Amino acid sequence: MDLKTDKMIGEKRSGVGHLIFNNPEKRNATSLEMWQAAKVVLDDFSEDPDVKCLVVSGAGDKSFVAGADISEFEKARSDANAAAEYARISSEGKEALKNFSKPSISMIQGFCLGGGMEVALSTDFRICSEDSQLGIPAARLSIAYSFDAIHRLYSLVGPSSAKDILITARRIKAPEALRIGLVNQVTSLAGLEEEVAEYTQAILENAPLSMQASKLTVDEILKNPTDRNLVAIEEIGKTCFNSKDYREGRTAFMEKRKPVFTGE
Ligand code: COA
Repeated sequence: MDLKTDKMIGEKRSGVGHLIFNNPEKRNATSLEMWQAAKVVLDDFSEDPDVKCLVVSGAGDKSFVAGADISEFEKARSDANAAAEYARISSEGKEALKNFSKPSISMIQGFCLGGGMEVALSTDFRICSEDSQLGIPAARLSIAYSFDAIHRLYSLVGPSSAKDILITARRIKAPEALRIGLVNQVTSLAGLEEEVAEYTQAILENAPLSMQASKLTVDEILKNPTDRNLVAIEEIGKTCFNSKDYREGRTAFMEKRKPVFTGE
């Protein structure tokens, strides 16, 4: 893997690809270089059939990701033109995360702020520890949070909580995040990795094509009706029914044993 920075780590462990934001001194604030490296890692995970799912996390014990690195803003994001260039450079990595076709989980500990929330909202599930604080402080920087990220936020928590989070810029604690549907699970700090491992284990045992179909269908529902790719949904539905795994699923049920899926 050709990475230009040690601040983004890609690791493969027992079928799970781990993408780790690694800048704990800055609470894992993201630089442009990190996003470029994220694209390299995610493309590799995407192409590797041994990687069945993705877990995104932050290094250290204080923070998931505390947003974009504000110290880069003066030079790289000083006005609308510079911001557009900044968005262009970071977008490849961000798009690779949003469009990652295998199931993805954010394992959140500590601060998940601004661009960190964008990361978390780009994955399929969010599991956080009790000490987590989630928020979007764009209103404290006079930044307009992106359409795509607000759309993802809105689709999880609805218009009222989305406006609350954005307009007050307050930090939401874990119990509230769970109550409003921003995260899927809250665990003790000590139990966080184990909880995430339970999710990844379920994913590793389930049929890859079926999970891909579900992910695709939910993501298409979130698009404007005119932009939805219904053909792709129909195609993957047929692929599932014609798959070896479908045969394996029903045979295993009849034989009262656990199915062993291959993704074919
Ligand atoms: N960009 C750049 N540097 C950041 C950062 C960010 N988004 N978030 C944290 N850091 C840096 C701090 O500047 C500080 O650097 P220093 O040690 O050189 O002074 C270091 O990380 C530790 O942060 P500190 O504020 O001392 O830690 P804390 O635990 O008291 O607070 C945060 C942590 C995350 C709540 C606080 O740093 C913060 O509010 N960060 C900005 C969050 C934000 O606005 N994100 C949106 C960006 S678009």
